[in-house]
Amino acid sequence: MRIASTWSFGLRANDAAWPHVEAGRALDAVEAACAWADSAPDVDSVGYGGLPDSSGRVSLDGCMMLSPARCGSVAGLRRHLHPVSVARKVMESTQHVMLVGPDADLFADEHGIAQEELLSPEARAAYEKWLREGGVVDQSRDRAGAPAAHALRPVDRRHGEDGRLFGGGALPADEARWRHHDTIGCLVLDAAGVLAGGCSTSGTPFKTPGRVGDSPIIGHGLYVDPEVGGATATGTGELIMGVCGAFLVVEAMRRGAGVEDAVREAAVRIARSYALEAHHQAAFLAMDRRGNIAAAALRPGYRTSVRDSDGARTAEPVFVAIPD
Ligand code: GLY
Repeated sequence: MRIASTWSFGLRANDAAWPHVEAGRALDAVEAACAWADSAPDVDSVGYGGLPDSSGRVSLDGCMMLSPARCGSVAGLRRHLHPVSVARKVMESTQHVMLVGPDADLFADEHGIAQEELLSPEARAAYEKWLREGGVVDQSRDRAGAPAAHALRPVDRRHGEDGRLFGGGALPADEARWRHHDTIGCLVLDAAGVLAGGCSTSGTPFKTPGRVGDSPIIGHGLYVDPEVGGATATGTGELIMGVCGAFLVVEAMRRGAGVEDAVREAAVRIARSYALEAHHQAAFLAMDRRGNIAAAALRPGYRTSVRDSDGARTAEPVFVAIPD
């Protein structure tokens, strides 16, 4: 029985999901973890806190997966806050896997899902600043404090319980560097032994309207096969999509790789496949069917949040492809 979510804010997402993990409700757990991140105003690449596209409008993407035969996805929601909840409706009540754009919002309306405001005042202010100042979001600064790989860290409750992730310097500097890539990906092995995953994002800040990244695409941002295990991704979607990242990790496990080697293979594949820029980051989180987990990242600053019968903690990636 375990839940693992991307980034340090995943500690609070895991807490929201934990009662469902214990009760053997893997899908509810995935939905609760992602919904927590969607609603958090200080998580600025997911949901309400998410930064808008270049037109100033937020669009949200997400998916959920139990198996190749049971998955659902939505992209480009502009009126509904919880893409994973809408994706679950797609999975459970249609013959399809993926709905996109205004029709995905209409589908959510038809299923009684309430419309919500997606643009927070902070995200609106960041957009207006971006319009005034232009340029790209600089994620190459602030390289201090990169942790050693392989280490397990005790839970830092400063960003686990007091409601502040980024305010007051609570987030470690090396992770704050990637705050605009903080898609939530979540993998659960519940008390009944059911494996499930979910992924939710607002995508790249100030993206071209209509852009969809890896997160809602089955096999890219998320893949789960109960015979093997699951994987999810976070970071620059375009890098992850070019290597079918989550599928690559699960297929490595299917061939016999352990979780550590599987995530390492995906991170190395990205490092070798692109002319990388300083702002590029990607990370893969895997869970095998026994609940073993590992993550690998392209650059330092990524960590995984874990909760299980031993409690809550953050874990450093087992491999960083490009150490600073
Ligand atoms: N990884 C999220 C995105 O690029 O949209």
